[in-house]
Amino acid sequence: MLCVTATPVTPVSTVDELIAFIAACNGVMDSLGPDGDPIDILAHSLQTAHVLSVRVPDDLELQVAGLVHDLGHVVVTGEPVAHGEIGAAYVRELLGDRVARLTELHVPAKRYLVATDARYAQRLSDGSTVSLAMQGGAMTAGEVAAFAANPYAHDAAELRHADEGAKVVGRAVPELDAWVPALREVAASVR
Ligand SMILES: [Fe+2]
Repeated sequence: MLCVTATPVTPVSTVDELIAFIAACNGVMDSLGPDGDPIDILAHSLQTAHVLSVRVPDDLELQVAGLVHDLGHVVVTGEPVAHGEIGAAYVRELLGDRVARLTELHVPAKRYLVATDARYAQRLSDGSTVSLAMQGGAMTAGEVAAFAANPYAHDAAELRHADEGAKVVGRAVPELDAWVPALREVAASVR
């Protein structure tokens, strides 16, 4: 068990367990409840991964990071600020450090993009705007410089753009079954 918050996180240990966990996110909303996004975690995860499969078709790890980036909302409920770190702790052992780092960084990536990209700031959903304030608001100039120096910054920003565009209720995208081979491939690559 890893202690990311006051609540310990038990890492997921097999792809089958992860698939069952994602499937169980059907109808589960994010940590903000009624103030959050109007789309359940399963649909949002599938849309995020699909957007990334179009944007970065050769980067399976980034697509898989899109699929798992918000699971932290469900692993430990009621943690909108720490959900990235919680999700990272949940998947690191199974999917590797890069997927975990991108999961963790999708939260500060929002603060980074709000500070550096006016068009992104205008696209923020109501739920993302509510959680932005809890997460510290737009980054300061010093925080922007530190984030930009992170080797994962570019991919984390790519994930964040996909995240914000993946909140369309009722949008038809490939189902969870379509992601099973990608999950198995990424998991196999970290062993
Ligand atoms: Fe998200």
